Amino acid sequence: LGAAKKVRGALIVIEGLDRAGKSTQVSRIAQSITAKTIKFPERTTPIGKMIDSYLGKMSEMDDHAIHLLFSANRWEKVDEILRSLDDGQHVICDRYAFSGIAYSCAKGLSHDWCRSPDVGLPLPDLTLFLSLTPEVAAQRGAYGEERYEVVAIQEKVKTILSQLGSETNVGPWQTIDAGQDIDKVTEDCLAEVKKAIDSVQLKGAPIGKLFT
Ligand code: ADP
Ligand code: TYD
Ligand code: MG
Repeated sequence: LGAAKKVRGALIVIEGLDRAGKSTQVSRIAQSITAKTIKFPERTTPIGKMIDSYLGKMSEMDDHAIHLLFSANRWEKVDEILRSLDDGQHVICDRYAFSGIAYSCAKGLSHDWCRSPDVGLPLPDLTLFLSLTPEVAAQRGAYGEERYEVVAIQEKVKTILSQLGSETNVGPWQTIDAGQDIDKVTEDCLAEVKKAIDSVQLKGAPIGKLFT
């Protein structure tokens, strides 16, 4: 008898508006379940540096071009994500394709066009949407200087993001009330994460493909 095949890790995505508490929860969840974390945009790669420059308003770019760079920035991490999952490691992403669609649609690009470059990315085993009103988010500190840190944009992004969970082939999607205290948010997130991990281990199904 050969050795039992190792169970793959789970792919968990955290989405939400700026200051919803994504980065806080990603690090808490990762600590609790021992996971690898990836943040999108990943600003250290050559593509990531172009994105960073655009967000910091050091450069201008056509809306379509920057959208494709955000997507390419995810694709360049796919190999690493798949290898980690295959190796039995859980991966938690701080933002993913849903942010890509929401921010670009908020600027007026068509939904179908925005979706296509991310078709086929690894399908999340769970997406946690940290839901918070832009007003409460604003109370968590002044907006910074980055490009999308403007109330009017955040309102549109929230509307689009909260609808993405009911599209087909986005994987399991859970909305979490991000307005609760930090520990309660973590508790709610962990309850869903543990269910998702159990389900991956029970089914033993390979990782799926987003939007397909
Ligand atoms: P994001 O990554 O979504 O932009 P952060 O995790 O960086 O958000 O959190 C933004 C700010 O809000 C930080 O100062 C953080 O300490 C604070 N914060 C995070 N979660 C909560 C919460 N549940 N209640 C109050 N403040 C929070
Ligand atoms: P991020 O570094 O996560 O900011 P924060 O920690 O403050 O929430 O994201 C930077 C900005 O990039 C944010 O305004 C959302 C935007 N964004 C896109 O427009 N498209 C994308 O595909 C992604 C991943 C982020
Ligand atoms: Mg963050």
